[in-house]
Parts: sequence; C-alpha cells; structure tokens
Amino acid sequence: MRAKNPSESRTVMTDMVLPSETNPLNNLFGGELLARMDRAASIAARRHSRRVTVTASVNHVAFNRAVPLGSVVTVEAAVSRAFRTSMEIYIDVWMEDRFTGEKTKANEAIYTFVAVDETGVPTEVPALAPETTLEKERFEAALRRKQLSLVLAGKMKPTEATELRALFMG
Ligand SMILES: CC(C)(COP(=O)(O)OP(=O)(O)OC[C@H]1O[C@@H](n2cnc3c(N)ncnc32)[C@H](O)[C@@H]1OP(=O)(O)O)[C@@H](O)C(=O)NCCC(=O)NCCS
Repeated sequence: MRAKNPSESRTVMTDMVLPSETNPLNNLFGGELLARMDRAASIAARRHSRRVTVTASVNHVAFNRAVPLGSVVTVEAAVSRAFRTSMEIYIDVWMEDRFTGEKTKANEAIYTFVAVDETGVPTEVPALAPETTLEKERFEAALRRKQLSLVLAGKMKPTEATELRALFMG
C-alpha cells in the first residue's frame, strides 16, 4: 500500500453555532463540539484508509476556549499517524469572530479510528508520510499517545509501553 500524506486526509468543516447547540451561558455545548469533531475525524480516517472506520477512542480533548453563540467554527482533522489498523486523527478547532473575522484557535482533540472490513474485523491501512514540521512533530509523539491510551484501556501492560516509559525516564 502506498504511504499517504496528511494533506490527502485533511478534512475541513465550517459551521456556525445555533441557539439549540449552546449551554446556559450561551456557549457551544461540549457534546455538540465532540460530535462535530467525530464527524470530521471519521471523514479524515476514511479518506486515508478508503475503508469503513470506527471511533476506537477519544484520547485527548482540551476545551481551552468557550465558543460563543453565533461564532463560525471550523473543525480541521487530518491523520497524524497510521499504525497497522488504527489511525490517530489530530483535530484543530478554530473560531471566527463574527464582527472582525479574526480566527483564533479554540480547541484541539486527538481521536483514534480503526479501519474495519464488512464484518467489523480490523484491517490494514496505508502508512502516513508526514511532510511539514508540525506534521512530523505530531507523528513522532503519536506512538507515546497510542501506548498511553492502550495502558489506560487495560490493553497494554505499562512495562510494554517502551516509548511512554522513555518519556518519563528521560
Ligand atoms: C475499535 C475496535 C474495532 C477494536 O477492536 P479490538 O478487538 O480491540 O481490535 P485490536 O486489538 O486488533 O485493535 C485494533 C487496533 O486498535 C487499536 N486500539 C484498540 N483500542 C485502542 C485504544 N483504546 N486506544 C488506542 N488504540 C486502540 C489497537 O492498538 C490496534 O491498533 P493497530 O492494529 O494499529 O496496532 C472494536 O473495539 C470496536 O469495534 N469497538 C466499537 C467501535 C464503535 O462502535 N465506535 C463508535 C462509538 S459508539
């Protein structure tokens, strides 16, 4: 299988925040943002693998900034590393001020998707070839994140998480 670049899976979804999607403080409801990120990440995973993909885990979500009612929100997702059957998807969320048009980073998240066949069995995906400095940084750190996620899920022994251990041992 030919290795693919992150640009081949990059998925950009722009939408606004409606009153039905807000919390009592008139900011975007967290669950709504999770769903938007899941949709964009799912499309990115499908573009990379050209397979049916399922969300395996949500590894990291940082709600750093509240997103007010009426904001224009852009969710940008791309594969940051591909393993055997799983893919890490890095998601950046931007909001656009409705008066000035200025774009600021609101949130980010990291999801793991697995490509599956018609019977739901995990199936191999193409490798990822990062190009930019940021893509290379995200690629390098992805193995540690995968190991952490597997350890927390009880699917890997901490002693087997060599990359993760190296981070703490210096
Ligand atoms: C995701 C799923 C296919 C994994 O199945 P599994 O039996 O654990 O399969 P495997 O052990 O072969 O794991 C498949 C891959 O997922 C990875 N994986 C599994 N759980 C993971 C986790 N919590 N974090 C990170 N990666 C994980 C494995 O490391 C493996 O990756 P690799 O092949 O690239 O090395 C299965 O759990 C599933 O179908 N879950 C439901 C998915 C779903 O319905 N999502 C929608 C949410 S409602």
